[in-house]
Amino acid sequence: MKKLIAGNWKMNGSLAANEALVRAMLHGLKGAAPAADMALCAPAPYLAQLQALLLGSPIAWGAQDVSAHEQGAYTGEVSAAMLRDFACRYAIVGHSERRQYHGETDVLVATKAQRALALGITPIVCVGETLAEREADQTEAVVKRQLAAVIHAVAHCTSEIVVAYEPVWAIGTGKTATPEMAQQVHAVLRAQLAAATQHPERVHILYGGSMNAANAASLLAQPDIDGGLIGGASLKAADFLQIVAAAQ
Ligand code: 13P
Repeated sequence: MKKLIAGNWKMNGSLAANEALVRAMLHGLKGAAPAADMALCAPAPYLAQLQALLLGSPIAWGAQDVSAHEQGAYTGEVSAAMLRDFACRYAIVGHSERRQYHGETDVLVATKAQRALALGITPIVCVGETLAEREADQTEAVVKRQLAAVIHAVAHCTSEIVVAYEPVWAIGTGKTATPEMAQQVHAVLRAQLAAATQHPERVHILYGGSMNAANAASLLAQPDIDGGLIGGASLKAADFLQIVAAAQ
């Protein structure tokens, strides 16, 4: 299975900056067959721009969130049908920043994953423990609880999701989980998927949290690390492309 390198721009960018960034990425990819599948997840207002820039390129695009509701009186929300209008292939759900700052619960995240799948959009389901939870030896219990909610909701579609293990203490901090620490959690998640789907090996389990050009190769060499969800380093074309190259 090809690895998947997905960028999460978070709340960064502008029309001008996005265009320069995407053009630099596409320029850097010219000629060579990409070493990994790629995607960029942008703020909702820029999805039309990404569609225009990336259509026909090897880079897919996606959103950073999706509403748990289908349509109606939900001011500020963006539905899965709207994302599909802009040909989004992916939608991140349950990012720790949404769990932390927007009070998203396991059940809400699971409903979002279900909504995305229903419209043919692959949810990138984020799970991960805080530093306090790791120090209290709760890592396994936390990620299993978070993933279990999604498996329960999407049931026979479990093999169609992407999972991203993002230890909260590693996000944007420059502290990366060691490849061994990450692999240990990925193996737990793989085993959990194996109990829920016949083809757990088909589910990409991405690592996210200060992944960069320097540490990507050793993380991506682990047997159960099937790619990366890249924050800061996805805002620099050269860094993102080096991570993609490291996926070979
Ligand atoms: P950083 O790569 O900036 O640590 O962010 C990781 C992340 O949260 C991706 O979703």
